[in-house]
Amino acid sequence: MYKFVIHGGKALKGKVKISGAKNAALPMLAASLLTSQPIIYHNIPDLQDIKTIKRLLSDLGVSFEGKKDLVAHAPNLKNYYAPYELVRTMRASILVLGPLVARMGRACVSLPGGCAIGARPVNLHLKGLAQMGADIRLERGYIYANAKRLKGTEIYLDIPTVTGTENLMMAATLAQGETIIRNAACEPEVSALALMLKDMGSEIEGIGTDVIRIKGKDELQGTEVRVIPDRIEAGTYMVAAGITGGEIYLENCCLEHMTAIINKLQEAGIKIEKQDKLVKVSAPETIQSTDITTLPYPGFPTDMQAQFMSLMCFGNGVSVITEKIFENRFMHVFELKRLGADIKIDGASAIVKGVDVLIGAPVMATDLRASASLVLAGLAAQGTTEVLRIYHLDRGYVAMERKLQALGADIERVPA
Ligand code: EPU
Repeated sequence: MYKFVIHGGKALKGKVKISGAKNAALPMLAASLLTSQPIIYHNIPDLQDIKTIKRLLSDLGVSFEGKKDLVAHAPNLKNYYAPYELVRTMRASILVLGPLVARMGRACVSLPGGCAIGARPVNLHLKGLAQMGADIRLERGYIYANAKRLKGTEIYLDIPTVTGTENLMMAATLAQGETIIRNAACEPEVSALALMLKDMGSEIEGIGTDVIRIKGKDELQGTEVRVIPDRIEAGTYMVAAGITGGEIYLENCCLEHMTAIINKLQEAGIKIEKQDKLVKVSAPETIQSTDITTLPYPGFPTDMQAQFMSLMCFGNGVSVITEKIFENRFMHVFELKRLGADIKIDGASAIVKGVDVLIGAPVMATDLRASASLVLAGLAAQGTTEVLRIYHLDRGYVAMERKLQALGADIERVPA
C-alpha cells in the first residue's frame, strides 16, 4: 500500500495533459464483446479500472495487444461469466451484461454489492433487458440473463442511469427490431459510446439526447476509435490551479463537455480561457463562495462535487453543496474537517463556510473522487498532509502525483 505525502502551499504552474476518460473507455472496451472483428482504440488511460476490465474481457475471450493504443479482438467468446471477485473491485464490470446477452444469448454476472457512495442498484439495467425479452433470474448473488435473441422495444428509464443506458444501448445493437430508450443518460461518455456503436454499423438516432433509437443488426463490424478527454480529470486540475493560487495550462481538454463545471468555477472566480489548443486556468485573488447542486448531464456532475467542496473550503462566505445523485457521497466531509474545514451536513446538503487556512493532517477516503478532494485540500493546506489508501486514486487518475509534480507540487508516493 502507498500513500501520498503532500507539503502544501505551492502555487501550481505549468502544463498538464489530460488523459482519456475512464468512464468513456470502460463501456467502449466492453463494446469489443459485440463484434468478431478487431477494434482499434487510441488514448486508453493507464488506470487500474482499465486493467480490471481488460482482465474480465480477456476471461470472456477478448484478446488485447498494446496499451494506450490498443487492439481488442474477440472472434469467438469462450465464456459468459463475470465473477464476484472482479465485479466487487469494479462495479463498471456490469457493462459486460448487455453485450454478453446480445452476442452469446446468455450472461452470468455477479450482482455488484453496496458501494461507499450509495446503494447503487442495477434494477433499471435488468428491467430494460427483461423488456427486451431476456429471462432474468437472481440466484446466489448472481444475475443470470438468457435470451435466444433480444427484441427491440420501448424502454423508459425511471432515472437516467449512465451505465444502464450504455448496457441497454449495447444490447439493442444486436437485438431484432428497434429499441427506443426514453429518459436516457446524456453524458458525453454515453454519446462517445453511441458514436462508436454507429461506426460499428449500428443505426442509432438521438445521440446526445434523452431519446435514443437503435435499429438492431445481425452483426457489427470493427472500428477505430479515440477515447474522449476526461472532463472530471480536467475539472480536478482546474480546481488544483484555483485552490493553490496557481496558473496552469491544460492540454487535450474538451471544454464543450464541461459547461456546468466551468460555469461554477468561473462563479468562484477562477479564470478559464481557451488559448489555441490549450486551456489557461488562473486562480482568483479571492475564491467566491458559490452553491452547487449535482444533477445528471448537462447539470453539475456528482464526480466533481467533492473536489468543488475542497475549493469552497477557502471561499469568502458560505456555500451550499447539494448532492442529488448518490445518497452517501459526503464521506470526504469528515476528512476535510480534520484539516480544519468548517462544514455541516444537513440532509443532502453540505454547508461549507470558508476558512482562511487548512492545516495538514493524515486523511483517508473511501472512494475515488473523495480521495481527489483530499489531495486538492492537501495541496492548499499549510504543512504536511498524508493521503492514505491512494489505490482509489489509481483507479481513476493517471499518474496523479507525477502530473502534479510537473506543475510544481510537493507530493510524493511513499509506502504506507
Ligand atoms: N440507479 C438506480 N437503478 C439503476 C441504476 C442506477 O436506482 O438500475 C441510481 C443510482 O443508485 C444513482 C443514480 O441512479 O442514485 C445514478 O446512477 P448511475 O447508474 O447513473 O451511475 P453509474 O452508471 O453506476 C456512472 C459513473 C460514475 C458516476 C455516475 C453518475 C461509470 C463507470 N461510472 O455510474 O462514476 O458517478 O455515473 O454520473 O461511468 C466515478 O468515476 O468516480 C464514478 C463513480
